[in-house]
Amino acid sequence: MREAHKQAVEEGYDRVAEQYLATKVANDPITLAELENLTRGLPSGAAVLDLGCGAGVPATRWLARRFAVTGVDVSARQLELASRHVPAAELVKADMTSLDFEPASFDAVVAFHSIIHVPRAEHPALLEEIQRWLRPGGAFLATWALGAWEGEEEDWEGWGAPMRWSHYDGEMSLALLREAGFATLRAEARTTRGARGDETWLWVLAQKGG
Ligand SMILES: C[S@@+](CC[C@H](N)C(=O)[O-])C[C@H]1O[C@@H](n2cnc3c(N)ncnc32)[C@H](O)[C@@H]1O
Repeated sequence: MREAHKQAVEEGYDRVAEQYLATKVANDPITLAELENLTRGLPSGAAVLDLGCGAGVPATRWLARRFAVTGVDVSARQLELASRHVPAAELVKADMTSLDFEPASFDAVVAFHSIIHVPRAEHPALLEEIQRWLRPGGAFLATWALGAWEGEEEDWEGWGAPMRWSHYDGEMSLALLREAGFATLRAEARTTRGARGDETWLWVLAQKGG
């Protein structure tokens, strides 16, 4: 069941990567301001992990100008596009729930619009892993859905491929972050241009304790 879900997400992004990229705003001011805020105080060359990096626009590309970025994505086509847009990043084709980084490998972790595709029963364990990969005091910036939903669209945005999502609502995602050992520094609903036009997501900046 979970494997079928993940396979559908991977195949879906392989097929719609270009259409999805065409919806991205290259210098989206909210994303860039959030990234600036996340990385303020980090030395250049700090290690940053981008989970579900997609084609790398705009976040991975912005991060790679100053930091040593590892971008992870399950879709080979997305990574092909990312390698063109962000040649400096280390790109890894993997399911983000199956990664095996050493503890305290990263100064910061980001995940934009990606954990919403991971089967939600796996969110608690994934958050614990992210917390383990971060150095003490390291920050995690991610976008979460405001409402809970699990399901499939047969022809996402009319792009010719099915897509699946699986997520809790914002309150539950914040509770899971707390349970995984994160302190929430800021949680704010913000509207940016996305695949469906203007979209509102819960932007959460959290910090690893200890
Ligand atoms: C909506 S796109 C977002 C891409 C990019 N972060 C952005 O904001 O433009 C979601 C990305 O997450 C990736 N993804 C979904 N499930 C994943 C998983 N289990 N492991 C790694 N990547 C995953 C998809 O392949 C896709 O590229």
